[in-house]
Amino acid sequence: MANFDLIVIGAGPGGYVCAIRAAQLGLKVACVEGRDTLGGTCLNVGCIPSKALLHATHQLHEAQENFPKMGLSVGKPKADWSKMLAYKDDVIAQNTKGIEFLFKKNKVTWLKGWASIPAAGQVKVGDEVHEAKHIVIASGSEPASLPGVTVDEKVIVTSTGALALEKLPKKMVVIGGGVIGLEMGSVYARLGAEVTVIEYLDRLIPGNDNEIAKTFQRILKKQGMEFILGAAVQSAEVKKNKASVMYKLRKDDSEHSIEADCVLLATGRKPYTDGLGLEALGVALSKRGQIETDKSYTTSVKGIYAIGDAIDGPMLAHKAEDEGMAMAEILAGQAGHVNYGVIPGVIYTTPEVASVGETEETLKEAGRAYKVGKFSFMGNGRAKAVFQGEGFVKLLADAETDRLLGAHIIGPMAGDLIHEICVAMEFGAAAEDLARTCHAHPTFSEAVREAALACGDGAIHA
Ligand code: NAI
Repeated sequence: MANFDLIVIGAGPGGYVCAIRAAQLGLKVACVEGRDTLGGTCLNVGCIPSKALLHATHQLHEAQENFPKMGLSVGKPKADWSKMLAYKDDVIAQNTKGIEFLFKKNKVTWLKGWASIPAAGQVKVGDEVHEAKHIVIASGSEPASLPGVTVDEKVIVTSTGALALEKLPKKMVVIGGGVIGLEMGSVYARLGAEVTVIEYLDRLIPGNDNEIAKTFQRILKKQGMEFILGAAVQSAEVKKNKASVMYKLRKDDSEHSIEADCVLLATGRKPYTDGLGLEALGVALSKRGQIETDKSYTTSVKGIYAIGDAIDGPMLAHKAEDEGMAMAEILAGQAGHVNYGVIPGVIYTTPEVASVGETEETLKEAGRAYKVGKFSFMGNGRAKAVFQGEGFVKLLADAETDRLLGAHIIGPMAGDLIHEICVAMEFGAAAEDLARTCHAHPTFSEAVREAALACGDGAIHA
């Protein structure tokens, strides 16, 4: 048994960041993690491994499609799936070991095992009970299930299985046209699979700007992906390693089925709080299983806090990280704070999709007057030089004050470009502030500046 100021449960981006920051602020900290490696879903079976596969298959696409256009020839590019998986595993190992190093450097004790909370102030790991003034639950999330669809992680897989398929599928059905479905679907499409995405709504990536979603669908279709929209998956059946997915079209209730040798279930995630003993403790949960907290992340039980995917809000690693930092600051007596109005979202396909703040849809719903500044990457010299002229930057600004309200980008490096707008929004900037900031030429960032110019007297290269 040991005494700590703080025990964090879970070493994903929320938990490990909270533990490190709290240690930096002078607290005696332990972090409990039951996996063999640190980093949670993000580093082990989420963001990082998927980005490795997205990168590898993007390079394959470049070699197949764009090398010849640039006068480069390296023979017929081939993908060796087992080597690609080994590369992905190496990327995971480098990152998870990195967190282990950071724990040592910051004197965070890693308590290995799965935690439960027998009472406020106590955390049980294995047979040992440790005491702590504060307990932060950062236990993350797990894939949501769908009635009628039984995951075996071989033929019917979640994102976890999709990162380690034994062999490449020829035909893949993706259930859900959200972030996971489109990122992983595009990996397998680039590796030669026929990929069909079945989505319940009449559009992809719900919550994102509608115009971006339409452009995104058109581009992905051009890349070979197929879409069945407005269709509710009813069930999936596996016979002799082949799956048959039954779905109903919402417009006329007609029933259809589609065959595949791999089905990816990507219909969302749900909080993971199994085994913590929250019910016995009286920690209040919402109907969706999220731990309820106040603005300081305090649960209904004093001394127990929660952050990240286990609580309300977008299930994003960086949202969890920010909450982890704010949490540590609050526990150290500082004024921790997260601005939920400026949390970017990124989809790491090619092209990337990135967004922050309001969409036209949310602004219309709120009855707010806004203006739109748009700029196509076709007018950006750098984008054209690298065959990425498709897509655009769209800025939304207050019609009267010109203050930036939101941004939506589909195009090269969108996930990086979005951050200058995030910073501008944090400082309450107007579109004109971006427009008057000198942007280096030739960069993709110039498209952001041009969109800002389009909010005023007009873009130059449009
Ligand atoms: P999601 O919520 O993004 O998308 C799920 C989709 O499935 C929705 O479009 C929904 O309408 C559809 N759906 C639900 N039931 C259906 C049915 N019966 N038939 C057909 N379609 C159905 O969830 P996703 O993609 O599983 O991702 C889970 C979480 O992980 C999200 O919160 C996401 O933000 C996060 N994530 C973020 C990434 C990033 O930031 N790049 C990468 C991967 C995941």
